[in-house]
Amino acid sequence: MKTLQLQLRFLIPLLVALVLAALVVLPLMDRLNLRWFSRDLTIRGTLVAGALADSIDEAVASGSTARLQALFDRTARDERLLAIGLCSKNGVLLRHSAAYPTSLTCAAAHTTAEQPDHRLELPTGAVHVGVYPAGNNHASGDTLVLLHDLSFVDRRSQDTRQYLVIFIIGLGLVIALITMVVAQLSWRGWVSGMRAILRGEGLIRPLLPPPELQPVVAEVRARLRDLEDEFRRSQGLVTEWDAERLRALLHTQLRGDQVIVVSNREPYIHERGADGVVVKRPASGLVTAVEPVMRACSGTWIAHGSGSADRDVVDANDRVGVPPGHPEYRLRRIWLSQAEEQGYYYGFANEGLWPLCHVAHVRPVFREADWEQYRIVNQRFADAVVQEARGEDPVVLVQDYHFALLPQMIAERLPRATVLTFWHIPWPNPESFGICPWRREILQGMLGSTILGFHTQFHCKNFIETVDRYLEARIEHEHSSISFQGQETLIASYPISIEWPSEAQRSAWPPVAECRRRVFERLGLAADTCLAVGVDRFDYTKGILERLYAVENLLDRYPQWRGRFVFVQVAAPTRSALEEYRSFRERIERTAERIDTRFGTPGYKPVHLLIEHHEHDAVNELFRAADMCVVTSLHDGMNLVSKEFVAARDDVQGVLILSRFAGAAREMTEALIVNPYHVEESADALHRAATMPVAEQRERMGALRMTVRENNVYRWAGRMLADAGRWRLRARIEARVQRYMQS
Ligand code: G6P
Repeated sequence: MKTLQLQLRFLIPLLVALVLAALVVLPLMDRLNLRWFSRDLTIRGTLVAGALADSIDEAVASGSTARLQALFDRTARDERLLAIGLCSKNGVLLRHSAAYPTSLTCAAAHTTAEQPDHRLELPTGAVHVGVYPAGNNHASGDTLVLLHDLSFVDRRSQDTRQYLVIFIIGLGLVIALITMVVAQLSWRGWVSGMRAILRGEGLIRPLLPPPELQPVVAEVRARLRDLEDEFRRSQGLVTEWDAERLRALLHTQLRGDQVIVVSNREPYIHERGADGVVVKRPASGLVTAVEPVMRACSGTWIAHGSGSADRDVVDANDRVGVPPGHPEYRLRRIWLSQAEEQGYYYGFANEGLWPLCHVAHVRPVFREADWEQYRIVNQRFADAVVQEARGEDPVVLVQDYHFALLPQMIAERLPRATVLTFWHIPWPNPESFGICPWRREILQGMLGSTILGFHTQFHCKNFIETVDRYLEARIEHEHSSISFQGQETLIASYPISIEWPSEAQRSAWPPVAECRRRVFERLGLAADTCLAVGVDRFDYTKGILERLYAVENLLDRYPQWRGRFVFVQVAAPTRSALEEYRSFRERIERTAERIDTRFGTPGYKPVHLLIEHHEHDAVNELFRAADMCVVTSLHDGMNLVSKEFVAARDDVQGVLILSRFAGAAREMTEALIVNPYHVEESADALHRAATMPVAEQRERMGALRMTVRENNVYRWAGRMLADAGRWRLRARIEARVQRYMQS
């Protein structure tokens, strides 16, 4: 629409200009034509009169009127010359050729010949009238009147007019076409440039806001901010989601029904240490998100007991109250044999489904034996759900790709349960998914869910298309639901998030300056160092290698940062039993070493690799100390590190660099969005973050904080549970109606 308006703004003046051109140019052209031809005919007439002079003199001298007449008739045979007349000094027409109009008096001929265009309209057509001295004796005063045909001038004028009109139309079309293309391109370029700028993208130099656009960009950003603020204010408290509101929702919409969570990774791991049992929190986005929800819901969480002291602390039913010390919910641990863990967790889940869904250029491996263990372990968790269920219709929250078969298994055993499955990782397109030998079984298993959630609409779309491709199911695009074998599943996107730190938590944090002092001291950094951090599990999907290349490229292309830019990568070891992870780690270590050797100096190490698990407080301290946080996942369902960094920065400073391939990029548009595969672009982003003015950091960070705070994890769970509540209500009403009909 905008493009059309823009084009019209160009086209209408253009059309007006063309019409005016036609109205003015054509008559002018006619007049010029006539003048030119008239001048030519006058010259021609002079020549003819000159050529006839001797013959006229001779004919007059001989007194033979017949000779004069014959001369006139012969001369008038000329194609252009219509007629000749001879006028006496006193204006009497003495002789003329046959076609001479007798109504044309000598006086009238003289008057016409004095006009600039010599044109006379006769009943037979327009003629050019020329009057010249007759013979050589000019003193006689006799004149020769030559009438030339002007119809050919009209014909030529018409031709010229036609060509001119065609030319004007053609020119108009060409100009219009060029205008439209230019308008289209410039509008698109402007719009996409503007969008990119507003998203924080466009770090490749051609896309950096041109200087003339910068005031507009600042203005638009400010206006957008105002609008957002206004919108938020108008929404009032309705947008605030917290533990309290989630609890209230559970009681009103779900009538306080039991909530059971199932995940592979447990929220608390008991490990045997030198000083006795220690409790660890795993590095898992899933756990970070689901744990606060569980604390609010006070239900049961079923997970694999993987810690060395896990068995020591559970009761006879393998249950333990958590969080340790002030239990708010129950953790039920499932023990897996080595073969089960190997086949189900390492094999099928992490060598098969993980690379399959992330499409991060690591080949998925599928083994029948792993699949078998995957099925067995899913069944064992289904049994545990049945054991833990207090009634026949609990709300079961199934987490992630470890349990694709579980929803169907639960539905078979507890048909009235509400199964909410959340897939924390991306869902690939049907072609990519199609290489899984058990694709049908996996889809069928997942369609046992009442609601199936993904982080983004894009992943929902991919899933629906995959079902469409491989199963005979009824898909209702309008409601985003799939009916398969009598069971209906709602497919929806619920972007996951973190718990926003409370006032009390924040007040316990050391000030930013103190965090910076501690971190700088610990790492031995110079006071003027620009500190970038990355915090990830040591996973090949996180783009850690690409991040290191970007740091190297920055030091290469922006030498001013050598000695002053330091990148700290915290990498929590993960899935180290798998060869792919081990070789990835070696590659990262080699690359970091290479960069340190290349750019390091005594007292300066550009890359610090901290390969160990960091607890939340240590990560928080690092986030608060840093100038920027770099998240360059090659593909990520959401990525909660980006949100945790933002939550840690209550000083409203620091820059987030975020991969466009992380689900978080859809919401966190004020980050500097990069394509991690484009090393130079990421390096430019590092430079831009390092030189970003304080005011811009505040503006961007302020907006990011607002987004994460509002779209916190309680909203994520709340939206899903509210959908489940509506679903259950509908099911109850349907059951009642059915009972009524049967009675
Ligand atoms: C991702 C997965 C989670 C998993 C986490 C840590 O975030 O979505 O399900 O818990 O990685 O991986 P790990 O294999 O150590 O549990």
